[in-house]
Amino acid sequence: MLALATAVYLIVSGLVIFTVARRRRAVPEHFGHRLILVGGLLVPVAILAVLATFTVRTTNALIASDGAVQVHVAGEQWWWRVTYPDLQVITANEIHVPVGRSVTVTLTSDNVIHSFWVPQLGGKTDLIPGQSNHLTFTVDAPGTYRGQCAEFCGREHARMAFLVIADDPATFDRWVDDQRRVPATPTDALAVRGRNILVTGSCAGCHTVAGTAAAGTSGPDLTHIASRATLAAETIPNTPDEMAHWLAYTQQVKPGALMPQIDLSAGEVRALVAYLDGLR
Ligand code: CUA
Repeated sequence: MLALATAVYLIVSGLVIFTVARRRRAVPEHFGHRLILVGGLLVPVAILAVLATFTVRTTNALIASDGAVQVHVAGEQWWWRVTYPDLQVITANEIHVPVGRSVTVTLTSDNVIHSFWVPQLGGKTDLIPGQSNHLTFTVDAPGTYRGQCAEFCGREHARMAFLVIADDPATFDRWVDDQRRVPATPTDALAVRGRNILVTGSCAGCHTVAGTAAAGTSGPDLTHIASRATLAAETIPNTPDEMAHWLAYTQQVKPGALMPQIDLSAGEVRALVAYLDGLR
């Protein structure tokens, strides 16, 4: 673009100097018309066609950057479903990426419009029903970067946050291996009871735990829930106490969340926490 613009600038400047120098001598009229046709129509069309070709090629290269980590992020009400299609990893509200490698995030929604925004990593990109949007970035420094839904999407829009966790490539690979592992069946009696409550109760209607009969998909995948830093899309820290409080008082912690208030005894909550805490 710089080369083309410089050439056009020099030619037009030359013509201006030429015109000023010869202003007393008139140019034949047909020559003027031809100059307008060529210089005002044909040349711009040719230049813009060349630029358009380069623009389309560059944009496509940005979308399908080879070797990029592919992450699919779906906006839910009100949390983030995160899948790595090439790595067979599924998680929620946390996007792990390796430092120094380009990451392409594909953004979709099957409900309302959300907006993916990690201020330290780039601008906002909307998640629009019926459309796939793409965002490519590279994280230079290890760390945890907070992201937030940036488009009003309903009652719990403000509690729809997430984390991008950038690690060195070896740590990232370890995380991928851990996420792909099917968690071991618990042996502790309390955790066994929790597992039975989860698999046979209403939890399994919405949640999946790999290796069990729980295969619901409307809620976040719980296979490795204990490995995540927060619960309910960055609403509370992921500690056993907060987990127990979340299970017992779901609609007070996050009013309007699609996870209903489930009637659980204190003993059932303890058992569920003992089980979930082992899902690393
Ligand atoms: Cu999702 Cu606001």
